[in-house]
Parts: sequence; C-alpha cells; structure tokens
Amino acid sequence: MDRIRIVGGNELKGIIPISGAKNAALPLMIASLLTSDTLTLENVPHLADVELLLRILGNHGVDVSVNGRREHQDGSYSRTIHFTCRTVADTTAPYELVSKMRASFWVIGPLLAREGKARVSLPGGCAIGTRPVDLFIEGLQALGAEMEIDGGYINATAPKGGLIGATYNFPKVSVGATHVMMMAASLARGTTVIGNAAREPEVVDLANCLNAMGAKISGAGTSTITIEGVSSLSGARHRVLPDRIETGTYAMAVAMTGGDVVLQGTDASLLDTALEAIRRAGAEVTETDGGIRVVGYGSEIRPVDIVTEPFPGFPTDLQAQFMGLMTRANGVSHVTETIFENRFMHVQELARLGARITLSGQTARIEGTSRLRGAPVMATDLRASVSLVIAGLAAEGETMVSRVYHLDRGFERLEEKLTRCGAIVERISD
Ligand code: EPZ
Repeated sequence: MDRIRIVGGNELKGIIPISGAKNAALPLMIASLLTSDTLTLENVPHLADVELLLRILGNHGVDVSVNGRREHQDGSYSRTIHFTCRTVADTTAPYELVSKMRASFWVIGPLLAREGKARVSLPGGCAIGTRPVDLFIEGLQALGAEMEIDGGYINATAPKGGLIGATYNFPKVSVGATHVMMMAASLARGTTVIGNAAREPEVVDLANCLNAMGAKISGAGTSTITIEGVSSLSGARHRVLPDRIETGTYAMAVAMTGGDVVLQGTDASLLDTALEAIRRAGAEVTETDGGIRVVGYGSEIRPVDIVTEPFPGFPTDLQAQFMGLMTRANGVSHVTETIFENRFMHVQELARLGARITLSGQTARIEGTSRLRGAPVMATDLRASVSLVIAGLAAEGETMVSRVYHLDRGFERLEEKLTRCGAIVERISD
C-alpha cells in the first residue's frame, strides 16, 4: 500500500492548477444515464472515485471514451470524457460497487426516470457517519415511485406512464438527494418544486448541465428549485466546475506553511466563507485573473472559530484542513461539525504531530502551538487524510502518511502539485 513521505518546513511558492471538482463530476457523469445521446464532459479530474464510477456506469450500459489527456504547460490535465448510454443494459446497481462509493447510489434517480425501475443496493454506513437514505426514498415517493427495501436493496418502481411532478420539501438539506430529485424530476410529467434544496455550487453545475441537455430547471443555487418535466433529454457538452475543496485545501496549506501561491483556474466565489476564515487567520487572499493568490506567513496565525454548515456556510469538506491550520494558531479556537456526526477522526492523528485538541460532542477545542513535529500518521478518510498532509508540511521533520488510497479518491496528483511549489513530498510504493 502506498505511503506519502513529507519533510516539513518549506514555504510553498508557485502556481497550483486546480482540477475539476470531484463532487460535481460524479453527478454529472451519472446524468449521462438520462439520455441516449452523447454527454461530453470537459475538465474531468483523474481520481479513483471517477474511475470507479466509470466502471459502474459501464455496468449500466454507458459507453465511455476519453480524450484530451495532454498535460498543459501549467501542469494541469484537461480530460474530456464522452458518455453514451444508447440503451440501459442493467437497472441494478450491485452491493459490490455501491458499497465502495456512496455517490453511486445516485444512479437510482436517472434509472427510475428513464427505465421506470431501479434496483440499487443501500450504500450502508461510512467512516464519517451513518449517512442514511431516507430523504431519497421520501423524495422519490413524492414523485409517485414505489420504494421497497428487500435484501439490502431498494427496489424503486415508477407509476405506469412515468414519474409525476410534485412539491416536496426536504426536512434536511442533502446535496445527494437534491441531485437525485433534479435528475428524476427532469423526466417526470408535470412540474416539481423542491423546497429546502441544497444550494451547493455542484447542484448549480448539475442543473446547468441538465438544462443544456434540454431540461427546464430554475432556481438552482437557491433553496427552491423548480423543474418542469420534459419527455426526453438530449446530449450536451459541459465543463466541470473547479474544485472548491481542493482550492480551499491548498489555500490553507499556504496559510499554514507560509509562502506565496497562485491557485490557477478556480473561482473565489465558490468558497467565500472558507476564504474569509483563512483571511481572518492572517493570510492574504486576493482574486487574480483566473484564480486566487494566497500569501501566508506560517506564523502569527490567528485563532478563528468555525461551524460547518450547508452552502454557503463553511463546508464540512474543509473542516479537517482548517483544524490542521488552527493547530498552529497562537491561541484557542473551536471547530464545530454539524453535518456529519463522526467527522473528527483526524483529531487523534493530528495529536501525533503535537496538536492539542479536546473534543466535546460536536465541537473540538484547539489550543494552538507554534511547533508541530513530524510523525507516522494514518489517513482515515479523504479530507482527514489531506489535513494530515498539510499539517505535515508545516511540521518539523518527517511525516509518513499511510493508507494513501483515501487521498487518491479526491486529490489529483497531490504530490506533484505540492512538489512543484517547493514542498518535499514523495509517494513511496511498497
Ligand atoms: C455530499 O455528500 C458530498 N459528496 C460530501 O463530500 C459532502 O461532505 C456532503 O455532500 C456535504 O456537503 C459528494 O458530493 C459526492 P448530504 P452527500 O446528503 O450528498 C444526512 C467528500 O469528502 N442525510 O448532503 O452524501 C447525512 O447523513 C464527501 O468529498 C440524511 O439524513 O451528503 C448528512 O448528515 C464526503 N438522509 C447530511 O444529511 C439522507 O437521505 C448531509 O449529507 C441523506 C443525507
């Protein structure tokens, strides 16, 4: 199993190209199941989760062709992938595949809308929390689907004549359930109004792509989304939006280690709340032509309290990284997690580097220290593992991060991007 070795202490200087967003690419790829025409997606990141979803979609009958893998001068890849699902080969998404990645459960929406039925394995729990699927069940039931649980699978059946538009208010904000409702309602008869919808930029990106395919969706990005169903969708060409979590992660790395880095090909408006927290911590964050410049000092980091919330609040996917930054603040800060009940696995590992963190319910109290020292640590989930990498960059000596496959799920060519900016980071394959 691969490990990543980091020797901390170097400032980061240079340009980091930001990849297409994993969490936008996944639902966009799933949208290809809605049409028999070709959906072309540009700027698709090369990540383990994307590769797995390609396999899962292949199982449902999606033909995939990849091009544009050329490396650009700034070190970025721009991958363009064409997806064509002439006919749906299989409406079952098996446990072996769904259990590996929760987002693959989302195929339930397009399969049900296009084929009138879907049999999709329940995703089960995952390391960061229980993550139930009740909102998907209730939302699709509101569109007239019969939803039955049988042997660990959900059997979903649309009424004769297809799903029927309806008004449904989510009792809780869910990104995935909003994606699924938008996809399913696009091919329903009549109008659907989703209340308390997720407002994440990835939801807007999916709505834009679906509209380019002929859907009639308005209000994405607000908490009320209206979808007028259409009888069929066509192909389209769509560019995946930049990864705001990757952007915020590198911005926090610079704030923590010090340096001067331009994050290229991203957009500050995707992560205002997180950038504001980084500024309050003492780094300079400015918008540039086509990116964001971050100047960090690596010392005199100010303590800042944050609470994770659905967009536009502070993203849960940047919580671990921000906690990493706060371990070096000159004072006490608090990080409160409100989205997932068990997203503090990085705490024990950060402690191995010398961080002083105490947990009380959903809040971590972090007493900053000017010195972190390298140590062997273990990655436990995607965002937790990258928090260990950035803490390792700011620590004295060597940090060895094991279980790197978590990082490969969501960070494209992490070692290379950091090394180009002067960090000492290498992958060790055993
Ligand atoms: C998406 O997950 C992201 N994944 C997550 O990123 C992200 O952390 C999360 O949104 C929140 O922003 C992708 O986009 C692929 P939710 P999702 O449904 O859609 C509860 C990463 O690291 N809930 O918005 O699965 C749920 O348990 C990943 O890239 C129900 O109660 O998240 C959670 O507490 C991790 N019932 C809350 O809602 C349901 O039926 C929000 O989850 C569904 C969700």
